[in-house]
Amino acid sequence: MKFLIITAMCFCVKTVLTLDCYWNTGCKYKYFSSKTPYEIVRGDIRDSIVKQEECETISVWSMLRHGKRNPSQRYAEDMQFILKNYKDYIVSSYEIGNSLLCAQDVENIKNWKINTSMLDEPNELSNEGYQEVLDIGRRIKETFPELLTNLRENEYKFTPGFGTRFEESANAFIEGLNDNKLIITKEYGDYTFVAPYSTCGKYQVDIRNNPNIYHEVDVYEMTEEYLNMRERVAKNLGFNFIPSNGNITAMYDLCRYSWNGLLHKPSPWCAVFTTEDLKILEYVGDLRHYYRNGYGAIKFSNVLGKLPMADLIRNFELAKRGNGRKIVSYFTHATMMDMLVVVLNLYKDPTPLMGSYRNVHRRYRSSFLSTFGSNLIAVLNRCRKAHNYDYSVSLYWNEKPLTEICNKGTCSWQEFEDIFTPFLNATDDICEFKWTQIN
Ligand SMILES: *[C@@H]1O[C@H](CO)[C@@H](O)[C@H](O)[C@H]1NC(C)=O
Ligand SMILES: *[C@@H]1O[C@H](CO)[C@@H](O)[C@H](O)[C@H]1NC(C)=O
Ligand SMILES: *[C@@H]1O[C@H](CO)[C@@H](O)[C@H](O)[C@H]1NC(C)=O
Repeated sequence: MKFLIITAMCFCVKTVLTLDCYWNTGCKYKYFSSKTPYEIVRGDIRDSIVKQEECETISVWSMLRHGKRNPSQRYAEDMQFILKNYKDYIVSSYEIGNSLLCAQDVENIKNWKINTSMLDEPNELSNEGYQEVLDIGRRIKETFPELLTNLRENEYKFTPGFGTRFEESANAFIEGLNDNKLIITKEYGDYTFVAPYSTCGKYQVDIRNNPNIYHEVDVYEMTEEYLNMRERVAKNLGFNFIPSNGNITAMYDLCRYSWNGLLHKPSPWCAVFTTEDLKILEYVGDLRHYYRNGYGAIKFSNVLGKLPMADLIRNFELAKRGNGRKIVSYFTHATMMDMLVVVLNLYKDPTPLMGSYRNVHRRYRSSFLSTFGSNLIAVLNRCRKAHNYDYSVSLYWNEKPLTEICNKGTCSWQEFEDIFTPFLNATDDICEFKWTQIN
């Protein structure tokens, strides 16, 4: 938990010269739920790797969310609407003196040019997303250079989920490992480990395609806090009407999808919102993730999340016996990361997240859990001990030690077995039938 708080705090001193502008505030709010660039929240495995005396790493297992992608068709259309109908209006209300935005912020929105592929190629991995995952692969290679050099065919496995953004992420990761012989393994039709929910009939019907699961979001969007936010946006933009929830979301999407993490380049569209507004919108994302894939859908998340964890322990058991793989990586959705959080019992609040009340001290924060490129990395170490070997497993979330588990993120083999062996019993019986419309 501690690292969450530290990352979430902003240490910079605000030096606003005249008005409270977005372009010149040193302390911009950068947490955009599951559309947060990885760069904003990541650690660095090269620094955080736990080194133990007389030990060597013999296997690395990881689950990674794809890197930054474009918005889906539906959200892209809503963003297109803003560009066509609201953008000029934002500029003209400023010109006639109705807007509370700063001159430079309006100028930046006016001059902002979209990279059209963001809206024309729904769901595809963006350039930034490719680079995010490439960089993760590169840092992993630099952390384990001996282990990951000259990998033979049966020593690795890279498995993407269904769809190009996962395959592209896997390719990016391999490029980062800097070994062009490596190939990805597509598991046509069998997503047991990489995305078990995608073929899980009961989950798709009861949760994924059930609009009632967003009940708490609907409640939140009727609270005074949320309604005041909409009014504030209207007032700041100088609109004589209050934008719909959908149009607020579309402006939020313009802000977060065009915030370039790797270039540390904020989006001028974020100037539409105050920091408080951004926190309110972030909470909407938290509620959605919580009730779709998290503790709010525990009947499914707590079962489906165990399937890849069983694969993790199985791989490490094999590696321990000398016939495992040196590296296994899966390229998946935010959904999977959300479910792993539940299975590992992380970032759990004593009471459920509610629409009626936003707890600003909540532990559950999608901005840190299912960020673009978010990942769980598990490292199996073999340590020389008198006449035989001892084993330990270190766990990392977003390249930081997962301190909530074992001693600062490193488990003895016994501790690891105690936590992970029960996962071996998980099945997908709960799914009842197979869902075939994978998207
Ligand atoms: C727009 O984005 C695409 C994909 O991310 C990239 O290939 C292209 O170079 C970008 N274009 C510009 C002008 O930056
Ligand atoms: C955005 O606002 C327009 C009216 O200005 C409305 O017709 C449209 O449905 C809204 N879009 C969304 C996604 O709510
Ligand atoms: C796993 O299943 C086996 C056989 O069904 C059972 O004996 C065992 O107690 C189960 N273990 C756990 C940890 O649930």
